Amino acid sequence: MIRPAELIERKRDGGELSADELTELVLGYSRGEIPDYQLAAFCMAVYFRGLSDAETFALTEAMIESGETLALGEALGRKVVDKHSTGGVGDKTSIAVGPVVAACGVPFGKMSGRGLGHTGGTLDKLESIPGFRIELSIEEFVEQVREVGLAIIGQTADLVPADKRLYGLRDVTATVENVSLIAASIMSKKIAGGAEAIVLDVKVGDGAFMKTLDDARALAESMLELGRRAGKGVVCLLTDMDQPLGHAVGNALEVREAIATLRGDGPADFTELVVIASARLLALSDLGIDEGEGRERVERVLGDGSAHAMYERWIRAQGGDPDEGALPTAPTVVEVTAGRGGYVRGIGAVQVGIAALELGAGRRRKDDEIDHAVGVVCHKKRGDRVGEGEPLAEIHARDDASARSAGDAVRASYEIADEPPAQRPLVLETLAT
Ligand code: URA
Repeated sequence: MIRPAELIERKRDGGELSADELTELVLGYSRGEIPDYQLAAFCMAVYFRGLSDAETFALTEAMIESGETLALGEALGRKVVDKHSTGGVGDKTSIAVGPVVAACGVPFGKMSGRGLGHTGGTLDKLESIPGFRIELSIEEFVEQVREVGLAIIGQTADLVPADKRLYGLRDVTATVENVSLIAASIMSKKIAGGAEAIVLDVKVGDGAFMKTLDDARALAESMLELGRRAGKGVVCLLTDMDQPLGHAVGNALEVREAIATLRGDGPADFTELVVIASARLLALSDLGIDEGEGRERVERVLGDGSAHAMYERWIRAQGGDPDEGALPTAPTVVEVTAGRGGYVRGIGAVQVGIAALELGAGRRRKDDEIDHAVGVVCHKKRGDRVGEGEPLAEIHARDDASARSAGDAVRASYEIADEPPAQRPLVLETLAT
């Protein structure tokens, strides 16, 4: 039997824990035999001392062992690919990538999460679609992926329950931002969900957990190492989160933008990310094609209507109404205009994310209800020219007062200058196993 206090002390002093010790610690916590306060102290010791690659892998395996695993590939007789984003503002990528990949003939079954802080979650976005069911049984989930080629559901309680507990604890003990803890949290869920190859979108910048390229690279390296040890193909795209992705921030607004993108009519940056991530997924799949051929196929399904048709099939299969007109709309829409002319040098992604949250698009407290209709549409993005008094953004609000305060916050988030900013690519780096 381990003595948790001894393990905490060893980690606090910079020592190393064995795989057996980490397994007992995590499983004991998951079973409720080790209290929150000891795991909180342990996470803080890890926050300052870090974990070695071997410890991070042992932690990941212990988290997987805490619950059930899903052999989706075996059930389908296909190689299953998955994608995950570390979280950003305006990140509706999975809602467009899923139909694109499925329309190209690769099964896509994904478990997604809810919004965290100022970042939105795929499940909250999907719930803005009237009738859409995020809670399918595992049997229904597998059957839908087999029949339709695509299903996105909420994380089931049986899959990596240790992460659910640990994540909640880290969230309130200032121990989220540790590379090993984030890597183990993400990869344990992907591996337990049955993915054999994974595209990870590691967000970098103001609106992301990882503020610098160095930190994002360290997280990517840690997840790649876990992928190597677990025998999974992993590609990490390090992508810009110094401004919101696309134009829309807020649940129904983002679903509308994803639909427009599936019709080939989306914002340039968001479309580019959807194409790159989807092409990578196709290249990792069992189609036996490279990324260049993947890109051609992705562009084809976006251009010929089949990606959009797949979206409609998928939403109907999960009980939802795929008609854009069925999405909720906010009663008050106001423009945010530029106080001066010039070039947009930057948009504070966190400020925009918080403005959307304050409008009701996110949660201040864990059990807050979400208002799916509200949010922000950033018409002008970094590098765009704007004249004095021209619209920068649009606020979709429940009432005038909340629209006014969000409008002030969004106006303040725009930095406008005489000179255009230096170009910054959307995909900053790509790393692979
Ligand atoms: N997303 C996760 O799933 N886990 C983390 O620890 C951070 C982001």
